[in-house]
Amino acid sequence: ENGTPQMGMTNNMGMDGEVTTELGPSNQESKELVLPPVLEGTPSSDGGISYTITAQEGNTQLKEGNPTQTYGYNDSFLGPVIRIRKDQRVTIRTENKLNTATSFHWHGLKVPSNVDGGPHTPIESGKTAELEFTVKQEAATLWFHPHPTGNAGQQVYQGLAGLIYIEDENYDNLAIPKEYGINDFPLIVQDRIFETDNQFNYSTAYSPDGTFGDTLVVNGTLNPYIDVKNEKVRLRLLNGSNARNYQFRLSNGNSFYQITSDGGFLNEPIPMESLQLVPGERAEIIVDLSSYSIGESIQLMEETVSVLTLNVTEETTEDIPPLPNTLNSISSGEEKETPDKEITFSGMGNMVAIDGKQFDMDRMDLRAKVGTKEVWKIDNAPDMMGGMIHPFHLHGVQFKVLNRNGETPPENEKGWKDTIALYPEESVEIEVEFPEKGIFMYHCHILEHEDNGMMGQVLVE
Ligand code: C2O
Ligand code: CU
Ligand code: CU
Repeated sequence: ENGTPQMGMTNNMGMDGEVTTELGPSNQESKELVLPPVLEGTPSSDGGISYTITAQEGNTQLKEGNPTQTYGYNDSFLGPVIRIRKDQRVTIRTENKLNTATSFHWHGLKVPSNVDGGPHTPIESGKTAELEFTVKQEAATLWFHPHPTGNAGQQVYQGLAGLIYIEDENYDNLAIPKEYGINDFPLIVQDRIFETDNQFNYSTAYSPDGTFGDTLVVNGTLNPYIDVKNEKVRLRLLNGSNARNYQFRLSNGNSFYQITSDGGFLNEPIPMESLQLVPGERAEIIVDLSSYSIGESIQLMEETVSVLTLNVTEETTEDIPPLPNTLNSISSGEEKETPDKEITFSGMGNMVAIDGKQFDMDRMDLRAKVGTKEVWKIDNAPDMMGGMIHPFHLHGVQFKVLNRNGETPPENEKGWKDTIALYPEESVEIEVEFPEKGIFMYHCHILEHEDNGMMGQVLVE
């Protein structure tokens, strides 16, 4: 029943197959989880909404002692939750108040390429841009982050990342926890190294195979806790780390339910004892605390490190409904005798490549037809060093996983995906259908691999 493929394959590895930076327990006193604010928009008379997102620098009290120099959206660190609805017209004014170019990429959003915010649309320091789009996809938890050529890793590490919640009618009708900060919590999980003066120093932390930290930071909180009732609690997990893979589990070994994959609800809740998320991936899980007594606690763990402590501090006064058996109705994709495209990820460090080539904005790597289903086979090439997991991410779509090495994917990957782990020497087939024309990126979501050129572009016509 466990949906995690290849258990124990959480390799967070460096060049020699060694773990680069060990994640340690935080010696900081447990603090209440910081909740990103839900962004206030300006509604228009026709049901549309407009938002302003500003990338800026700031100082953030993350750890005891000196504040850390950070980046954030509308804030000094991380960003707000942008709430939008299916079929809604959305306007976003983006402002770059950093002293360097950035871009505003909406990871997982099905938008035309001029809205997508990839490397083709940098916003120079001091400049603004206005985007408009209609939400054409179902309820999901997506995120946004910078994507400037060669510089995504540093800017995300400094703190640029925020969440997008899409809602729709199906969502409205599902009996699941929905009270923000009460029983529905976002968890942006990241790892960082704090220098002795509490600063982030990307260049010293940097590794070409992925920048790792020894300290977990969740929504910008070290060693966080939440106080909750003895009811079902929904955790919206985002692996917002540059490179680290996480293997989440509960401290008492109990199972939990995964209810979404990257692009929306799974067809049904999947019981899990452990859940792997690679960089860029999201999953919403339900932890059922209804059998807990006041005063009891449980922890969400990554290996031996606490990600979040859930303290049951209050008796619920409501009747908690069972989880719905049906959450969505996604048909399975269709395999083909021969894939339409085959893409090979290879190499490590500065030698990473896709189909033997490194990213070149002047070269179009692939072509696809809008509104046409294609099968893409993505290979993680054998490597003398043992290879590593590459998180494959594709812009502009939500895709379906057809198989892993020919085998049907685990239950929790039978939903909409935009990012998927490629294990060493593995081939994954996906079904892709672009809803919009334009140029879309595909790349490894280890941000240092992306910055080192493990990225290509597809022209959709
Ligand atoms: Cu989340 Cu191309 O990125
Ligand atoms: Cu993306
Ligand atoms: Cu990679």
